[in-house]
Amino acid sequence: MMIDTSWRELVESKWNVLADADEEKIVSGVFNHPKSLEGMDNIYVDGKAAEKIAKIINKRRKDMNRIDENVEFGKNVIIKDDVEIAKNVKIGHNVVIHSGVRIGEGSVISDNTVLGKVPFKAKASETTKIRELPPLVIGKYITIGANCVIYKGANLEDYVFVGDLASIREDVQIGEYTIIGRGVTVENKTIIGKHVKIESEAYITAISTIEDYCFIAPEVAFSNDNYLARTKERSKHFKGPTLKKGARIGVNATILPGITIGEDALVAAGAVVTKDVPPKVIVAGVPAKYFRDVPEDQLLENQDFYEG
Ligand SMILES: CC(C)(COP(=O)(O)OP(=O)(O)OC[C@H]1O[C@@H](n2cnc3c(N)ncnc32)[C@H](O)[C@@H]1OP(=O)(O)O)[C@@H](O)C(=O)NCCC(=O)NCCS
Repeated sequence: MMIDTSWRELVESKWNVLADADEEKIVSGVFNHPKSLEGMDNIYVDGKAAEKIAKIINKRRKDMNRIDENVEFGKNVIIKDDVEIAKNVKIGHNVVIHSGVRIGEGSVISDNTVLGKVPFKAKASETTKIRELPPLVIGKYITIGANCVIYKGANLEDYVFVGDLASIREDVQIGEYTIIGRGVTVENKTIIGKHVKIESEAYITAISTIEDYCFIAPEVAFSNDNYLARTKERSKHFKGPTLKKGARIGVNATILPGITIGEDALVAAGAVVTKDVPPKVIVAGVPAKYFRDVPEDQLLENQDFYEG
């Protein structure tokens, strides 16, 4: 039998091994001759020693972290302190779960995903402030793809789906049944409602609001700074777009800072939206102008899936 664990857990397990200053190193197994471990990043062991250490580590994990017995773990999973994982959760290989993360029943976390990352601030960043954040909460029956990074301070409600390679920052709220597509970026201080679809590679800038049942096509870009990183004045005006209930944005459209797209309105593919859009109309072009009304049969109230 081979076991996989983090160096830190290994040390905390009080097994007779050397401590290492770098607690993030992954070790693949444990060995009970401490001197032979010096300078090694990865350690392999099998047989009785591994079984014994696996038992100690698993017990400590459960004591410290409130992890249900029916959780499936891949290899090289790292779990920090104060983590809660409910029953029937499946965790893939190389997943890193930082302190305080809560994962609800039946959720699936795929390979190489990082949960509960603490934001770091670029020297020049205007919107990121270093402060204590609430835990990352992943609700029930949520699917998270491979290679995603979801930050501490985000809150994903039940049945949310997150595609591979997505990035979701702190202070983000995502409502139930919402789909965050492959490679989507959701920046901080953003509220996303329920039953929203955000398709591949869309960019949702900081301080945006997307209400229930909105649709955002691939490669859509939101913006929040009309001063493009110049002047001190700009920090007073940072604001992303607001999409009212059922608004839809066509592929590759650009929405300028602070714009409101009205309820059930539609922005055509490739448009650049420079002014607020009234409800239930289609706008198109650069700059976007009135095109026609949204056809009756496309209105949200006429869709079977709408629970208004
Ligand atoms: C706005 C839209 C719905 C209009 O579709 P439509 O009613 O079938 O329009 P038509 O193809 O009949 O085109 C009518 C006119 O508008 C123009 N037009 C159509 N879409 C346009 C757009 N996105 N931007 C600018 N002009 C556009 C056409 O060139 C045509 O001009 P013309 O009369 O001078 O030839 C559609 O073009 C669109 O943008 N769809 C979004 C697709 C999308 O992003 N889907 C997301 C999931 S992948």
